[in-house]
Amino acid sequence: MEYHNREQYVTDLMKLVIEERNINRIDRLIRKAGFPSIKTLDNYEFSPITFPQGLNKETLLTLDFIDNRENVLMLGAVGTGKTHLSIALGVMACMAGKEVRFYRTGDLTTELLELHEKNQVSRFVKKLAQADLLILDEVGYVSTSKRASELLFTVISNCYERQSIIVTSNLELGRWNEVFGDDRLTAALIDRMIHHAHILVFKGESYRYKQALMKK
Ligand SMILES: Nc1ncnc2c1ncn2[C@@H]1O[C@H](COP(=O)(O)OP(=O)(O)OP(=O)(O)O)[C@@H](O)[C@H]1O
Ligand SMILES: [Mg+2]
Repeated sequence: MEYHNREQYVTDLMKLVIEERNINRIDRLIRKAGFPSIKTLDNYEFSPITFPQGLNKETLLTLDFIDNRENVLMLGAVGTGKTHLSIALGVMACMAGKEVRFYRTGDLTTELLELHEKNQVSRFVKKLAQADLLILDEVGYVSTSKRASELLFTVISNCYERQSIIVTSNLELGRWNEVFGDDRLTAALIDRMIHHAHILVFKGESYRYKQALMKK
């Protein structure tokens, strides 16, 4: 580009610097979020999802639920795109400048147990509270000890009404007590989670299965 005027040159240069800074910031946010892989909504099919009253695909994608500190529960069959959608929403949130943390619940409980040994749980929970969105993937896939359930409960209680959580699970809510062991604790945990929450139900055949069949 040719410049006849120095002012225009400086303005354009500033724009480039700002753009570059924004890209760096988004990049940092995405790395900090800890996604296991990067997923987008390109080629994502919403057909397995039944939306609840008051939410549809368009309103979900505005990410207003994060500013409203509402939760999104993604429940349903294996391989139907729960993790994929949770990551895609997380990446979109980073692009909108939000702080996100992604955890497979099993990994989080392992980390919490380790921190508990070192008396560092409260520091960790405080840091986690700085995020705008917490994604807990695969809640209920592995049974947890009483201590681990309690620690997870601490995290969720701390997020309650302060930040937004996305939870994915293939276990219906009525069976969560089988995983967390304690009926009262499970009831209190679900109660906090479903207050101000949108529940998306995923149905259908596993995409992993379909993809494997296609390869054959
Ligand atoms: N609705 C969809 N549209 C496009 N691709 C999909 C969809 N659902 C799943 N996939 C693809 O299938 C694979 C499995 O999806 P994903 O891991 O999101 O499933 P899940 O619901 O989290 O399953 P699980 O309950 O076993 O954790 C991924 O590679 C994903 O990209
Ligand atoms: Mg998953």
